[in-house]
Amino acid sequence: MTPKTRFIILFCAVLLTVSLIAYAQYVKSQKLSGGTAGINDLLVSSQIGGGFELINHDGDTVTDKDYSDKFKLIYFGFTYCPTICPTELQKMLLALEEIDSAHISKIYPIFVSVDPERDTPDVLKEYVALFSPNLIGLTGSQEQIDAIKKTYKVYASKVKTDEMSDYTVDHSSFTYLMSPDNKLIGIFKINDDATKMGAEITRIINAYEAAS
Ligand code: NI
Repeated sequence: MTPKTRFIILFCAVLLTVSLIAYAQYVKSQKLSGGTAGINDLLVSSQIGGGFELINHDGDTVTDKDYSDKFKLIYFGFTYCPTICPTELQKMLLALEEIDSAHISKIYPIFVSVDPERDTPDVLKEYVALFSPNLIGLTGSQEQIDAIKKTYKVYASKVKTDEMSDYTVDHSSFTYLMSPDNKLIGIFKINDDATKMGAEITRIINAYEAAS
């Protein structure tokens, strides 16, 4: 072994040790900040959310102002979705069951269609009733839906292959917790379970009210 080789091996060993220490510190700091709870706290300053004009499941034109007296849990999807949308909507309503009545009364659960072509107010009305009498279904013209997709940074795109008799919609799947004035204050993913979601919603609402 030449002195140069020995130096390189020593150098690599030192580098590896320093990296491991740095990684251990990083893991420790992540644990202290509470993992995903820390992520939700950062969202207050995000660019997601804002005003909208849509049509509710009774066929009436509504805007964000109609829902500005409460917090909102919003999920974007489409009624023809075979698995993910129904699962996520059911989870959203289960999460609300985990919350005490004082907090539930402060939240509107809302489903916004990204497939306005098929999701007419009538179709939506029947669909939301399958989940909860409190679930609000919103749809609109293609322009209105395109506008809210942009404001809420929702990805949704029609997919049609030759083998398919009808199209499907490929879409992002997040449940947004919005403040009364439509700012994003929490975000939930497919992996978050209802119990964790319920606890997190209560925590965020309490923190929001304490700060305002
Ligand atoms: Ni879906």
